[in-house]
Amino acid sequence: MRVAVLPSADEAERHVAALFAAQLRRKPDSVLGLATGGTPVGVYRALVAAHRAGEADFGKARTFNLDEYAGVPPSHPQSYAAYMRTHLFDHVNLSPDRTHLPEGDADRAEDACRLYDALYRYYGPADLQLLGIGANGHIGFNEPGFVSATGGTQVVRLAESTRRANARFFGEGEQVPAYALTMSAGRILQARSIVLLATGAAKAAIVARALEGPIGTDCPASLLQLHPDATVVLDLEAAGALAPERG
Ligand code: PGA
Repeated sequence: MRVAVLPSADEAERHVAALFAAQLRRKPDSVLGLATGGTPVGVYRALVAAHRAGEADFGKARTFNLDEYAGVPPSHPQSYAAYMRTHLFDHVNLSPDRTHLPEGDADRAEDACRLYDALYRYYGPADLQLLGIGANGHIGFNEPGFVSATGGTQVVRLAESTRRANARFFGEGEQVPAYALTMSAGRILQARSIVLLATGAAKAAIVARALEGPIGTDCPASLLQLHPDATVVLDLEAAGALAPERG
């Protein structure tokens, strides 16, 4: 894995956005794998700016998101579909039929997973996949101990630590959904290139474990050590627990 440590979160986010803009220039019809959460917000802000500056053309691109909450319709403000519209899709030239997320409110989540996986197998794999990392080491919603290397897109039960971490996005009295639809770790690892972004001191310990610890499903992000073209982009705080020669 390549590791790039930038002085600040802002610079780390802009570094990742530049990788995506470069990918689009190199291959305009790229399949981009996208992620949600607090971490990528600044990446999308920088990508929108790049688009407005004429440096990122999404007209021929196609996007696949990692996951979506189960039972949550795209109109719900905390759905990842709404997140993507707010932070990226509404501000760049991506037509909605080229953006894909699992259908969170499908009558039968398993069918929605099968359809999503079929679409990904047809159009994918991603040329460049963006990932965050949960404080518990999850990628997508592949929670510690519940990682499938072979499955496609799956219904998963969210770890309590994940529900607690994501409660900040939900209103008071609103429940974080208990289940989600997620691309499996195996599918994620099929991406041609992967860039994982982590910022802030709260991610330092899990980043060190993912990069330097043993490879195992108890830290799903450690599976990236197996990927031939993975880049980890950190700010100084998130790099704070790495062995000295790295951080
Ligand atoms: P965060 O989530 O960016 O909100 O910290 C990361 C993740 O859960 O993958």
